[in-house]
Amino acid sequence: MSHSTPPSAPAGAPWRGAIAYGCDYNPEQWPREVWELDADLMVEAGVTMVAVNIFGWAHINPADGVWDFEGLDAVLDLLHSRGIAVNLGTGTASTPPWLTTAHPEILPVMEDGTRRFPGGRQAWCPSSPEYRARSLDLVARVADRYGDHPAVALWHVSNELGCHNALCYCDHSAAAFREWLRERYATIDAVNDAWGTSFWSQRYGAFDEILPPLATVSSRNPSQVLDFHRFSSDALLAQYRAEQDVLRKKSSVPVTTNFMVTAHIRNLDYAQWAPHMDVIANDHYLDHRLADSEAEMHFSADLTRGLAGGEPWLLMETAVGAVNWQPLNSTRAPGELRRHVFSHVARGADGIHFFQWRASLQGSEKFHSAMLPHAGTQSRAWEEARDLGSELAAVGELAGTRTEAHAAIIFDWPSWWAVDGESVPSSHVRYLEQVHAAHAAMSAAGVTVDVVPATADLSRYSLVIAPAWHVVSDAAAGALDEYVQGGGHALVTFFSGVVDTHDRVRAGGYPGAFRDLLGVVVDEFAPLPQGDTVTLESGAQATLWSERVTLRGAMAQDSFVDGPMAGGAALTRHSYGAGTAWYCATALGPAAYADLARQLADQAQIPRIGGANARVTAVRRSGENGSYVVIANSSSQPACVDVRGTNLLTGQPWQPDTALASGDVAVVREEAA
Ligand code: GLA
Repeated sequence: MSHSTPPSAPAGAPWRGAIAYGCDYNPEQWPREVWELDADLMVEAGVTMVAVNIFGWAHINPADGVWDFEGLDAVLDLLHSRGIAVNLGTGTASTPPWLTTAHPEILPVMEDGTRRFPGGRQAWCPSSPEYRARSLDLVARVADRYGDHPAVALWHVSNELGCHNALCYCDHSAAAFREWLRERYATIDAVNDAWGTSFWSQRYGAFDEILPPLATVSSRNPSQVLDFHRFSSDALLAQYRAEQDVLRKKSSVPVTTNFMVTAHIRNLDYAQWAPHMDVIANDHYLDHRLADSEAEMHFSADLTRGLAGGEPWLLMETAVGAVNWQPLNSTRAPGELRRHVFSHVARGADGIHFFQWRASLQGSEKFHSAMLPHAGTQSRAWEEARDLGSELAAVGELAGTRTEAHAAIIFDWPSWWAVDGESVPSSHVRYLEQVHAAHAAMSAAGVTVDVVPATADLSRYSLVIAPAWHVVSDAAAGALDEYVQGGGHALVTFFSGVVDTHDRVRAGGYPGAFRDLLGVVVDEFAPLPQGDTVTLESGAQATLWSERVTLRGAMAQDSFVDGPMAGGAALTRHSYGAGTAWYCATALGPAAYADLARQLADQAQIPRIGGANARVTAVRRSGENGSYVVIANSSSQPACVDVRGTNLLTGQPWQPDTALASGDVAVVREEAA
């Protein structure tokens, strides 16, 4: 990566040489007599690391100027006495009521100008000076007290920063936004130029006239909205870095926070955050609102690894069964948890942690699953969680190895914000769906991909896919150009390269930044009504989009038979330098996309594991210890996968004709060649 790659397991980390196993633990919700029992059961379940003090602020600081660490002292000592490492929360995630009563200006303001009330969680403005000062005071006290406690193995800054409060429109945010703009643009003329304020009489005479993009009567300035997204992500990153600075002064323990690489949280540009983490950590929950929640889970893990520069990372939260925050909270089918946990391990997770240890009896998460559900140890959840502890211990030698990927998909948060923004050619085109479609096609072709930020070093890949990469800097476009000229293979899909980083259209025809690379020029978009399908000459079905493509060096590989662009090219291929660049001017259906993925993988000579596909996943991790293939069979049939070695979960030999039962998992240590 061009940014500094975060180390996977800092010296002394408990997950070095083992897969860390654990959970969030909220002992403040339980009477003391339960704590001892909890610690004993944790040992029984094979728990090695536990996150505490995530929402501890009101407990250790019950009133202004009053501090009480006695409970947390006891918890840390208890866990340490059982050999369990602590992932210690700084406790800043949620403010206590006394603080927002004294300083209501801490509370965030929404797009419509209304202020939110306390009573939930994370009700603070990321740019509030009062919140910043109070939270850093808390961090300093926690770090002073526990900075060299022998149980503390990792610092957990705040919790899911920006989960609820990422976009705040209050006066403090407005002032901080102006400051951010001043630093970025220096002069008001430069802001006017970047935002194209000649349009609709939006010209600013001074920085003081600028507001966050609050709700308007019409559509808003898209460049302003894009910059506000960047600012808001930076504001929370600044909170992270401020807490990290305090911790670093008082402790040598590595620092992280839990990302939310999910389908429904898009406000944080984690490409900017990743270089600041000592280890990348992610929270992932199956989203049953999606058509294929398991595919999204694979995608999320591949993107988390991409953010980690290919290094191992930690799954900081997932659910044993159901969550409590979807309209219908489905549980996991028997065996599904195990398969999903190993899917994360396959994709580079060196730690598996659940939210949470013991199911709450009160509060809005009382129906969220836990390792220890309301029923206690007489439950499937407990048995599965306990069995997983010993299985993860059995594959500890995997820790530290790297997932092998020869292909990459570019993921870009500003493109997500812009493509899903207002005033676009089609509100039915959703960025994430386009990226997911590319990922699904590669999975169907049995290809493991790193999903990487636009700044990633592409030279390590044989194939790069850029789906709907809409907002592109000259430098990033140049890097893809250079990659192909140097012999790489690339596929770029529609609505890519259209605007620069200010959301300003690149004149001269679409796909602007990639015209030369792709050898095509497009003079008009013709998005399709939702549900309409067009047919291509090959018989492929496509939806959502068409456009008029003129060839400027590329060869048509497929064309529209019907729809508004009938007769025109839909898929093109351009020999460019020593490489090849493909362009797809429509949204291919899953079967056609998978065929294309296979063709590209063959052309790029990507090694694939025989038998692997979207439902029978086989992912290789390798390193000093050796080479391993993690196989998970989500299909309804037994499956064979073309590897040889020993299944670490059973101790049995594995041959290409060994059948893995439907729903089962294997971790095969490959025979040395
Ligand atoms: C997030 C939070 C946890 C908990 C879970 C519930 O991941 O970090 O505190 O609320 O969601 O799924």
